Amino acid sequence: MLADLVVVPEASLAPVPDSLSLEEAATLPCAALTAWQALVVRGGLAVGDTLLVQGTGGVALFGLQIASAFGAKTIVLSSSDEKRERATKLGAFATVNYRTTPDWDVEVRKLTGGLGVSHILELGGPDTFDRSLRALAAWGHIAQIGVFSGFGPHSNLMRLQLINGTIDGINVGSAEQFEAMNAFLAEHLIRPVIDRTFSFDETQAAYDELASGRHFGKLVIRL
Ligand SMILES: NC(=O)c1ccc[n+]([C@@H]2O[C@H](COP(=O)([O-])OP(=O)(O)OC[C@H]3O[C@@H](n4cnc5c(N)ncnc54)[C@H](OP(=O)(O)O)[C@@H]3O)[C@@H](O)[C@H]2O)c1
Repeated sequence: MLADLVVVPEASLAPVPDSLSLEEAATLPCAALTAWQALVVRGGLAVGDTLLVQGTGGVALFGLQIASAFGAKTIVLSSSDEKRERATKLGAFATVNYRTTPDWDVEVRKLTGGLGVSHILELGGPDTFDRSLRALAAWGHIAQIGVFSGFGPHSNLMRLQLINGTIDGINVGSAEQFEAMNAFLAEHLIRPVIDRTFSFDETQAAYDELASGRHFGKLVIRL
């Protein structure tokens, strides 16, 4: 929000969880809640499920942490081998470098014994959507969230019909879902992954860092 004071309807607010610092709590309302709505509220995530996340930004890593707490296995795509190692330490079941393995959908199917994954956090948009359809398991669930490569994929949805698949459009989440998620994060001792915290005066540097894509997890600006 980049403001000292803001006016919002009370119904839109949720208390800061006791277990988290203000910086940690600031990472939750958009990235974490989006992953939560996608996987838990809409996706019905369950133990034994498999998840694919694209990249190692905020939504993807919250997805990984939430899925691990549910006993689901996550495959992380990343353009960086160093970030892949960090994702493995955070609990990823497998990782694939989408730069050196552009046909990552084939690799994802191999990693799941030919079945494909049961959930996908679709973050890429037009550049990734067709591969996501091919990486999805029968009865699988795609959460349409991201726009890294632009808006509005124009995919052939025939495959979705053949595998009884589902696509849900996700727009962040409600205050009620936010409070339920916060209770879950506290119960499972999940802490947000913060790459770096900037002071208010370093706001431009924070946006430059975000644009560079070097970050792993969240960047925070401290007021
Ligand atoms: N629908 C909603 O309500 C909602 C809510 C929040 C965010 N979003 C959208 O969801 C997306 C993710 O948000 P975020 O905040 O998590 O982003 P972020 O933190 O900025 O994630 C950046 C990372 O994503 C990866 N990435 C970038 N382009 C990629 C591509 N073409 N294929 C695969 N990975 C790619 C890169 O990871 P590596 O460096 O590891 O390669 C990059 O470092 C954005 O498009 C954002 O606008 C939507």
